[in-house]
Amino acid sequence: MKKILAFAGSNSKTSINKQLAIYVASLADYTYDVVDLNDYDLPIFSLEVEANGIPELASDFNNLLKKYNGFIISLAEHNGSYSAVFKNLFDWISRIDRNVFKNKPVFLMATSPGMRGGITVLETAANTFPHLGASAVEKFSLPSFFENFKDDEIINLELKTDLINNLEKFRKSI
Ligand SMILES: Cc1cc2nc3c(=O)[nH]c(=O)nc-3n(C[C@H](O)[C@H](O)[C@H](O)COP(=O)(O)O)c2cc1C
Repeated sequence: MKKILAFAGSNSKTSINKQLAIYVASLADYTYDVVDLNDYDLPIFSLEVEANGIPELASDFNNLLKKYNGFIISLAEHNGSYSAVFKNLFDWISRIDRNVFKNKPVFLMATSPGMRGGITVLETAANTFPHLGASAVEKFSLPSFFENFKDDEIINLELKTDLINNLEKFRKSI
């Protein structure tokens, strides 16, 4: 049975990206688990901290990634880039295994309250993830989250169609 891991690149307790990731995972028609980056509280990466050993929680997350056939990730955009919590966790993982995504496909998303929908971090990640072992990257950006996502679903039909089409490509790549 194929399994997907879904998470947000955010440590907000009310993360809109987590809401989107869970919603999309529920549409993907595979068994899925959701993980929260708040459960992986790691020291800020540095060579000196690393010299004292890789933190257990970083190894735990790396081992978690090995158990799944694909990933649904929705990134928060902070100042045009990754949130600190996502960047830090993935910096640690990349030191354990450069093949972070274990040759599995990623359905990559971003959403924000603004009209650009996190497109800047989405493009950065789409360019980077193949170098970190993502076998394929399909993308979806949801602009103006609070206008387009209500009662746990996307209410804008054009955006929903775009999502479903891209999600289907991801499903085929698993
Ligand atoms: C430090 C900081 C920087 C931000 N920078 C951006 C940004 O560059 N682009 C954007 O669209 N939203 C930006 N935002 C707003 C976030 O999109 C918004 O907080 C969103 O809820 C983050 O997603 P999350 O709820 O999943 O954490 C920023 C928010 C914070 C706290």
